[in-house]
Amino acid sequence: MTARLIMKLEVVAAEPTTPDVLRVVFRHPQRPELPEWTPGAHVDLRLPDGKVRQYSLCGDPADRARYTVAIKREAGGRGGSLWAHANLAEGGLAHVSAPRNNFPLAEGTRHILVAGGIGITPFVSMARSLAASGADFALHFCARSAAEAPLLDALRAVCGDRLHLWLSGEGRRLDPALIGPPAPGTHLYACGPQRLVDAVQARADADGWAPDHVHIERFAATLDENYKPEPFDARIASTGEVLHVPADRSLLEVLRENGFPVASSCEIGTCGTCECGYRNGTVIHRDHALPLAKRQDRMMPCVSRARVALTLDL
Ligand code: FES
Repeated sequence: MTARLIMKLEVVAAEPTTPDVLRVVFRHPQRPELPEWTPGAHVDLRLPDGKVRQYSLCGDPADRARYTVAIKREAGGRGGSLWAHANLAEGGLAHVSAPRNNFPLAEGTRHILVAGGIGITPFVSMARSLAASGADFALHFCARSAAEAPLLDALRAVCGDRLHLWLSGEGRRLDPALIGPPAPGTHLYACGPQRLVDAVQARADADGWAPDHVHIERFAATLDENYKPEPFDARIASTGEVLHVPADRSLLEVLRENGFPVASSCEIGTCGTCECGYRNGTVIHRDHALPLAKRQDRMMPCVSRARVALTLDL
């Protein structure tokens, strides 16, 4: 677990990109450059009550002086977006983490990007990078109307005719069958509302896409409601201490109660902040952040558990 750098950044612009999406630009008040990032990365915005929200960076990774995010006002959300809309204004300050990338572009020869609504944000920098490198890509963007499609002008400029706009208010909805069957070197990405990403995933599964060629970024946990957590023991490799994790507690909670300051953010298995190493155990991975290739020895203790026992690399 590595603690992430938290910076106090200045808001240099905060303006609506649609009626309910605020585009916010940050810079460091003293330093000319911010930590670098790659397309698909996000930052944590720390709220005054200590809670954390993740927002994808949607500017240009080559612009080291600024971070840009787009924040949708979610009236029924957990309060972070309402705070941001009410408080982030030009000249103000906010606590923002160094970027982390759980949704990177894969090595491939063709890329199919599918976004719904505010789920477009990670794809802006991805499309910019793909266009700059001359890569073969298509971006399918689903929204109710052009007026409600965030960052549309920037996308049109970057993508040209590689942007396919699906506006439900005009009766044009994306049929996931359009994605087509898998092809060598082709990667599929989706980000947006649950229904959209589930439809893309279901279509990819039905068409036989390899799991490591399908990349899904979720806004919320999709934990199996029928899953019944079982208690287990977690042994700490460095001390030999054994911590019991009851069925109704997360491993993250038990670690914290026992003095292990594990960094966390979403606590629903989507951000990757709490990642830690393990050995000697069977882990029930329940997150949406960890790539398949890392699941042999890494886990997300906010949602993942073990069968009977495991040893943690702590
Ligand atoms: S805190 Fe976000 S994945 Fe665990």
